[in-house]
Amino acid sequence: MTDPKPPSPRRSQLWFGGTTKDAFIHRSWMKNQGLPADSFDGRPVIGICNTWSELTPCNHHFRELAQRVKQGVLQAGGLALEFPVSSLGETLMRPTAMLFRNLASMDVEEAIRANPLDGVVLLAGCDKTTPSTLMGAASVNLPTLMVSGGPMLNGVFRGERIGSGTHVWKFSEAVKAGEMTSAQFMQAESCMSRSAGHCMTMGTASTMASMIEALGIALPGNAAIPAVDSRRYELAQRAGRQIVELVKHDVRPSAILTREAFENAIRVCGAIGGSTDAVVHLLAIAVRVGVPLTLADWDRCGRDVPTLVNLMPSGEYLMEDFYYAGGLPLVMKRLLDAGLLHGDAPSVTMATLRDNVADAECFNDQVIRPLDKPLVEQGGLAVLRGNLAPDGAVLKPSAASAALMRHVGRAVVFESIEDYKARIEDPALVIDATSVMVLKNCGPRGYPGMAEVGNMGLPAKLLRDGVTDMVRISDARMSGTAYGTVVLHVAPEAAVGGVLALVREGDEIELDVPARRLELRVAPDELARRRAQWQAPEPPASGYARLYVDHVQQASEGADLDFLRGCRGDFVARDSH
Ligand code: FES
Repeated sequence: MTDPKPPSPRRSQLWFGGTTKDAFIHRSWMKNQGLPADSFDGRPVIGICNTWSELTPCNHHFRELAQRVKQGVLQAGGLALEFPVSSLGETLMRPTAMLFRNLASMDVEEAIRANPLDGVVLLAGCDKTTPSTLMGAASVNLPTLMVSGGPMLNGVFRGERIGSGTHVWKFSEAVKAGEMTSAQFMQAESCMSRSAGHCMTMGTASTMASMIEALGIALPGNAAIPAVDSRRYELAQRAGRQIVELVKHDVRPSAILTREAFENAIRVCGAIGGSTDAVVHLLAIAVRVGVPLTLADWDRCGRDVPTLVNLMPSGEYLMEDFYYAGGLPLVMKRLLDAGLLHGDAPSVTMATLRDNVADAECFNDQVIRPLDKPLVEQGGLAVLRGNLAPDGAVLKPSAASAALMRHVGRAVVFESIEDYKARIEDPALVIDATSVMVLKNCGPRGYPGMAEVGNMGLPAKLLRDGVTDMVRISDARMSGTAYGTVVLHVAPEAAVGGVLALVREGDEIELDVPARRLELRVAPDELARRRAQWQAPEPPASGYARLYVDHVQQASEGADLDFLRGCRGDFVARDSH
């Protein structure tokens, strides 16, 4: 990196500098916090954007984390000011936290732009808090560094590792199949979530923590250090010091979040067996920084990437094991050595990716496999197309059954998730292991918010017969902790009149993952007849849900609101005083 640019006037000095009435107002009220006068002398002012909330259990330790960032900022000669933004708790929010990702990103964007900040550290952990904060900050483009809250310690039940989410699905199916008692199911609750931190499987939170490290917008090692490990706090402190350096050198997200960075992230996603949610989030972040990224890039970049990380839901281990084995720097080093990453990509360390991972070492080849012994040969997410998904759909091969990767079956159709819940255990439901379960109206507009319901549970009668997986297709998302042969994010979705809306009970559907094909075997004239009868669902009458439905884009474009696309910069012309 080059020498620092001339520092004046810092953005914060537009508020705090000078002897005017406005400067008096800006400084005087801040002094009620006991800040000395030299706090406003032109030193970098760093915002600590905090998604702390007791309603977001994965982020409940963030006030302590913020203190460590603050220490680092002060050590480097900056002024740190913590501020709250919307926090999105995955487990509690209804109808789905995803409905609020874009709203939270607006909160972050406007809070950063409206205030006298020179740079910002984003504290994120639970699934949607990472993309929402980065989307917002990217649209402002002030120097930015992300710090994840870190995963929970391994879950342990009856001496076995159990993973967030993954074992909720496994155990609930075991109860349905009569293999586990309700009492044991209840005992597992407290054995699963036993420390601060986010889901410790390679679910969406761990995937997104890995994505920001791969993008170069977080420090090396960010993804895997457990939330309660002292090294998480040490990393937070270093992040505080580093953001001051980024401000001094005027290193902005637009210089880091390049096309090469996104290609790196897509490949890393394949290597870690990452969540399908990463697709919509990375597409949305790319749009904010003006990087052209499409679903086709996901297939092209990810196709030949082996999955090296042996973590649930695709494998056996958990994030704590991943950290002890060498963490994400080791995965990136292995991909780099194989020529699969852009080694020159810049990062918030102000060194290249190649330099950042040069010292990575392996301490457990079972957890982080070598390239010649991968967990899955082709681990990237598969992007499927065909008349059932003209704009694309995604499937995670590493979480699917090899025997179902080429499959033809008859559709069992659910018009909504409520319809599914009402009929799935009906003894009269005609369904067998070869059926293809189809769920409609769970996409961005249809739900609204694109819920994580795509991994519909199998009916108990089939589970009792020993069936463990079936092809499922929907316009919904799936929890990153889930697994199965599940086709997701079908675009266009049913609620906007996609062909998915026209599927009827008994239709033949062909899934061919190697050929990347998803076809509804119904003649075009019959589809035209059905389309003439189709009626769009009524939108919500008012409120934020109406704004969302009127403006949300399809999953294949990142499911952002159309008016939030792009970077609006940090300039604010007016002051109200
Ligand atoms: Fe918060 Fe999984 S519920 S990360």
